[in-house]
Amino acid sequence: MSKSILVTSALPYANGSIHIGHLVEYIQTDIWVRFQKMCGNDCIYICADDAHGTPIMLRAQQEGISPEELIAKVKQEHEKDFADFLIDFDNYHSTHSEENKKHATTIYERLKENGHITTKTVTDLFDPKENIFLPDRFVKGECPKCNAKDQYGDNCEACGSTYTPADLINPYSSVSGATPIQKENLHYFFKLNDFKDMLQQWINQDNLQPEITNKLKEWFESGLQDWDISRDAPYFGFEIPDAPGKYFYVWLDAPIGYMASLQQYCERTGKDFDSYWNKDSNAQVYHFIGKDIAYFHMLFWPAMLHGANYRIPTAVFCHGFLTVDGAKMSKSRGTFIKARTYLDHLNPEYLRYYFAAKLGPGVNDLDLNLDDFQQRVNSDVVGKLVNIASRCAGFITKKYDNKLTANFNEECTHAFDLAVEKNNQIKSYYEARKYSEAMRVIMSLADIANQIIDAHKPWERIKEDKNRTEVHQVCSFGLNIFCLLIGYLKPVLPELASKSESFLNTEFTWENLYNCKPMPEDHEINKFKPLITRIEKELVDKMIEDSKVETAPKASDPISDEITFDDFAKLDFRIAKIVKAEHVEGADKLLQLTLDLGEPTGGIQKNVFAGIKSAYSPEEVEGRLTVVVANLAPRKMRFGMSEGMVLAAGPGDKDIFLLQPDSGAKAGMRVK
Ligand code: 2FM
Ligand code: ZN
Repeated sequence: MSKSILVTSALPYANGSIHIGHLVEYIQTDIWVRFQKMCGNDCIYICADDAHGTPIMLRAQQEGISPEELIAKVKQEHEKDFADFLIDFDNYHSTHSEENKKHATTIYERLKENGHITTKTVTDLFDPKENIFLPDRFVKGECPKCNAKDQYGDNCEACGSTYTPADLINPYSSVSGATPIQKENLHYFFKLNDFKDMLQQWINQDNLQPEITNKLKEWFESGLQDWDISRDAPYFGFEIPDAPGKYFYVWLDAPIGYMASLQQYCERTGKDFDSYWNKDSNAQVYHFIGKDIAYFHMLFWPAMLHGANYRIPTAVFCHGFLTVDGAKMSKSRGTFIKARTYLDHLNPEYLRYYFAAKLGPGVNDLDLNLDDFQQRVNSDVVGKLVNIASRCAGFITKKYDNKLTANFNEECTHAFDLAVEKNNQIKSYYEARKYSEAMRVIMSLADIANQIIDAHKPWERIKEDKNRTEVHQVCSFGLNIFCLLIGYLKPVLPELASKSESFLNTEFTWENLYNCKPMPEDHEINKFKPLITRIEKELVDKMIEDSKVETAPKASDPISDEITFDDFAKLDFRIAKIVKAEHVEGADKLLQLTLDLGEPTGGIQKNVFAGIKSAYSPEEVEGRLTVVVANLAPRKMRFGMSEGMVLAAGPGDKDIFLLQPDSGAKAGMRVK
């Protein structure tokens, strides 16, 4: 019987781009949803942007736009990124929406009516000039640990330590510059402990992951504290109905965004919202999230729902974090890869397959090893799977008038039956989110098919007329088993599957993969067109190169590893004159410079790409002098060859300092 299922992925914050770390979750969820739909279940996949909170407000301020403008811009970008990664949401909304305001208000009011909201007085920092309470990130000052200046009230960017705004040395309000004072302030709290019994039961249900259950038990044992759900103006969010100037903390209305997005979907499609969220709902509700936000989804959220008389989720599925080449994603190494940067170079299905090949049901971190990524996708998807079709299709088209035979020899029949028999196993692996197991089984079936084709060598046997039937059988078998395997892979590789459906003149559902029979005698296929190409290493390298963010050295950076005098003596620093400076198309940070190294070098000119665009226009630098490493080996960059390195000082952005025009230096001088 078809099931009614509601599935969500965590709502991404509306102040930054989607990156490959996020994509682990969206790809994991999308595969599951596509699988459910393929099985004929009524499954809805809902998401939205998480649009409230201080970081979003600050980001908008930095960009000189309103929060509304920021979140509209980011939402558009997110939706495009998701669509291009083939993440097929049924609805994508925003937490800054009428629907969300309505549901947040209802939930809050019901919690209040039922006695689960309380107020307490808390000491907060207050800006006496502006007459406002200051959120953590609006207070700046010196880090109490390392004395770095201009640090935010919650953590230090120089030494990484965390603290409260009250710990800052010489704190000041970033709104007015005034010294904040401590002032008593009323906060609203959600009484989590009221839900102790219900949460105890929820924690002990079978369909939660054991690692997470253990974590929940620890939290439980350390006591369920009241949760502070109010923030003071200025705040980008919803005002609390009976508390002017107080706003819901972003994490209160974020999960309610799941409901808001469903509401919008139901209004668009005529589906019944209540049948999903009512207390007696028969639908299943699943949240896919990262393990870092389990607390919110597995304690606060079920408690809020229960307290407001809604049903609680069927289960919450957590995943681990993504590392790249065994380490945390890094902007300077170029492994903090934005979805868009990936898409500029590579096919989204490569990453979908790679993640599927590595994803299990647990919360372990997942590593994207870039060499393994290239090797694995090339070998499995291109080398094993698509290869079956590309080896067989040409013969069917040229020699058999595009028609397949259903009369296989015994060996082929046996291999085909075996692949059909694996249906149940593959299905249960998908259902249990054991995608890596599913991929393993599918690829082992592809291996068997390739061995059979290899043994029959159609490319040789076709040369003799007496082998006509054998070649027809083997190639028809090849295309049939290819059809079945691509069908199994449809949740992971939807575009490849759709191209294959057109080529094979068929459609894959789980229903028709069950007891799948070979396509009927004389089934006609279409002309084969290449379905997917290999990953070229060059493209992976370019993607990394484009992801590198040159983080300007900070005064607080530790001094680099020691070098010997001989190392130093190898460097040839010269004064060069910038004779020409030009914009580089497609580069945000670079200027292309022609440097003249002056008479002593015989008037050598060098082409150098320098990351100084944020501080200078081409006109401003033409004619100026700079120090350059003259003997650096040329490096091939995306935009051309760079034949040296310009030296400048400063923290970056607008502050990058070349030599002063009147420094007395002359082009060609050596610098020692
Ligand atoms: O951690 C995050 O990125 C949050 N924006 C997730 C919110 S999920 C849900 F609760 F809205
Ligand atoms: Zn510090």
